[in-house]
Amino acid sequence: MVPGAAPLFPPTHTGRGQVMQKSLFISFEGPEGAGKTTIMAMLDKELRALGNTTLLTREPGGCRLGHNLRSLLLAPEMGDIAGDAELFLFLADRAQHIAEVVKPALAAGKIVLCDRYADSTIAYQGHGRGMAEAPLLMACRLADGGLEPDITFLLDLPVETGLERATSRNNRDKKLMEQSRFDAEAIDFHHRVRQGYLKLAARHPDRIAVIDATRPPAEVLAACMSVLAHRLPGTPPTNGDENVRDDRI
Ligand code: TYD
Repeated sequence: MVPGAAPLFPPTHTGRGQVMQKSLFISFEGPEGAGKTTIMAMLDKELRALGNTTLLTREPGGCRLGHNLRSLLLAPEMGDIAGDAELFLFLADRAQHIAEVVKPALAAGKIVLCDRYADSTIAYQGHGRGMAEAPLLMACRLADGGLEPDITFLLDLPVETGLERATSRNNRDKKLMEQSRFDAEAIDFHHRVRQGYLKLAARHPDRIAVIDATRPPAEVLAACMSVLAHRLPGTPPTNGDENVRDDRI
């Protein structure tokens, strides 16, 4: 633990001799190649160093059922999956993930860091695939039962930069990285996804923080910590404020 650092939420006493940390649900969103995995691992380490209990998870694939659904959803050999079928597979993954992983972790007072959540469905199936938003929102609500992240970090960067990063990452480590059905989509698809995300951020400014993901990882991390410091009591101050973009559209 960093000397003098305090947990994100100081533990509170329940009055029955127990000590509880307040839970927090943080999701990470962004187009391909935004660097979510790297930043999540760094933030996780930082939060743990501050004395918090965390859980790192992802969608699709954060639970046993989801692990299998993930292979079906992302494998290029699946070819074209009908839009509705794709949607319901993502939502089945979410419903099970919430029940099996997210809710129990929040009930145990953990800080849950989730790689992708419902905003991905609106950005990819809605804006990317062109599904109508009203029924999509209803379907999402059915799957998530209204469970919303407390904070969402949207790691934003130009589509071309993200795709270049994703390609070089895939070339660098062919064993670890899976080339997914989504990587193979036309560039217009990825532009629609990014614009969809930025619209969501404009609609939910209190929840979604747009972070400039073209910067080096340490600066992106500082920006995330700065958002937490502003929005949550008890977080130590940082000087990463300049990385929080104020050009939400
Ligand atoms: P993943 O390899 O996790 O992508 P990344 O590393 O970019 O996060 O693959 C997840 C893919 O699934 C990603 O392309 C986005 C897509 N997706 C949807 O289309 N809808 C959803 O609801 C979710 C959760 C993900």
